[in-house]
Amino acid sequence: MAKSALSRVLTAAAASLPLLAAQAAPAAAARATPAAAVPIAQRGPATAPAASPALSDVLPAPVQVSPDAGATFRLGPLTVIRTQPGSPAARAVGDQLARDLRPATGYPLPVLPVAARRVPSISLLLGANDSRLGSEGYRLSVTRSAVTIRANNPAGLFAGSQTLRQLLPVDIDSPAVVRRSWTVPGGSILDYPRFAYRGAMLDEARHFHTPDEIKAYVDEISRFKVNHLHLHLSDDQGWRIQIDSWPKLTAVSGGAGTGVDGEGPGFLTKAQYKDIVAYAAKRYVTIVPEIDMPGHVNAAQVAYPELTCDGVAPPPRTDTEVGYSSLCIGSETTYRFVEDVIRELAAMTPGPYLHIGGDEAHATPEADYVAFQQRVLPLVAEYGKTAYGWNEITKAPASATAVAQYWDTATTNPTVAAAVTRGTKVVMSPANKAYLDMKYDPSTPLGLDWAAYIEVRDAYGWDPATRVTGVGENAILGVEAPLWSETLRSLDDIEFMAFPRLPAIAELGWSPASTHDWASFSARLGAYGPRWTLQGVNFYPSPQINWG
Ligand code: ACM
Repeated sequence: MAKSALSRVLTAAAASLPLLAAQAAPAAAARATPAAAVPIAQRGPATAPAASPALSDVLPAPVQVSPDAGATFRLGPLTVIRTQPGSPAARAVGDQLARDLRPATGYPLPVLPVAARRVPSISLLLGANDSRLGSEGYRLSVTRSAVTIRANNPAGLFAGSQTLRQLLPVDIDSPAVVRRSWTVPGGSILDYPRFAYRGAMLDEARHFHTPDEIKAYVDEISRFKVNHLHLHLSDDQGWRIQIDSWPKLTAVSGGAGTGVDGEGPGFLTKAQYKDIVAYAAKRYVTIVPEIDMPGHVNAAQVAYPELTCDGVAPPPRTDTEVGYSSLCIGSETTYRFVEDVIRELAAMTPGPYLHIGGDEAHATPEADYVAFQQRVLPLVAEYGKTAYGWNEITKAPASATAVAQYWDTATTNPTVAAAVTRGTKVVMSPANKAYLDMKYDPSTPLGLDWAAYIEVRDAYGWDPATRVTGVGENAILGVEAPLWSETLRSLDDIEFMAFPRLPAIAELGWSPASTHDWASFSARLGAYGPRWTLQGVNFYPSPQINWG
């Protein structure tokens, strides 16, 4: 992209510099030019300044916020972004922040290793040397002359940068230059996550979403400090990731008509997948690939009939039934297939997790299911990854070293609770709270309703650590908001279901339980709505929220 877009922005910035310089920080202006001497007409078309955020107006809620009403920072045409000398990763976060802030401000915002004294600066510095911050936390301080974000790791600088974006006026999300003053409220923030894993999931199998749509979703979720994107890459209808050793998976089951209702084609080549991984990594989002097995495999069996027990290819399916397909558990061909897929997927995935599905295997007898998982869960570890699966994997003792994704709607599940005592870690995605494909109410035009109607308050109104008996804070790796695509085709559809509920799940994952408060959350969410409008994000304007 960025070359021509960036040069347009820089040209606009240069054209407006003299004018904008006259609006620089009032103290400087008062020294150089009496404020009254700047004719109002030169200020350009006035936009009514939207209310500036308070220091606490951040989604998800920070750990600790200490406002200082006497210290407002003003981002101006001379502001520089300074990043930790010698750290390419800090520099990359600074470059990204500059790209995010240039379109609306029109300012050049150079990214430098040092800043001259008295130049207003935004500093992204490592070496915070504060164990409370962990690997993703940050401290942010705002004075009249500087914004300083300090962290132990670049991931914390990225998290702090997302906070800073929300502390600027809503207009910062305008894709075009807005002439106004750009203030950041004074004070300091201390912030770090409650849980290490905050995830979102996209279903690529039922309807394929393109690399650009996936990247747009990465941009949108990373603003809320969501740090994993789980891609559901295979199901009964389609197979959506290139596997060289079994090429018909995509040649046949990634082809035309393999989406629900005969939509398609679509699959990710390895090059596209790696490009998405790299794009997401720049936004501190780790891609988690899922190949669902031993059920949800009809598309694989259409391409390779030897994956069935009778060797006969089943018909392709584009309906939304579940639970009818199974790999042939007693066949060695099955394990050659599974190992090839795991090996290739592990090789193209730098992140630690490899998700092997395991849900709704109703066509697999229970003993076979356990035997399959006893063999396959350790295989994931052999290829250097942590096995991850839907909560049914806890039926197999080998899940002790795995991560189980809790999608059950019940608040007790003795199998999962027993696995937790053996060491299994849990990601909480209860379908009646965290599934973003559930309708908001009966009138929602998209989505399903088998688990619940989930309005924003329902998505926010639970605690991951008290939801399921025997699955407490220490057992929980984090939370994830899955989005299944039976009814979703476009990015507009994705956004309509994800927003505004995704920030609710993100806050449950990031913010301390002590900050949990519907009145606060709903007010912050309402104030965020105009940002989505400026970004062109198609959010659902829930009547539960007073949109700012
Ligand atoms: C699921 O919703 N079948 C994990």
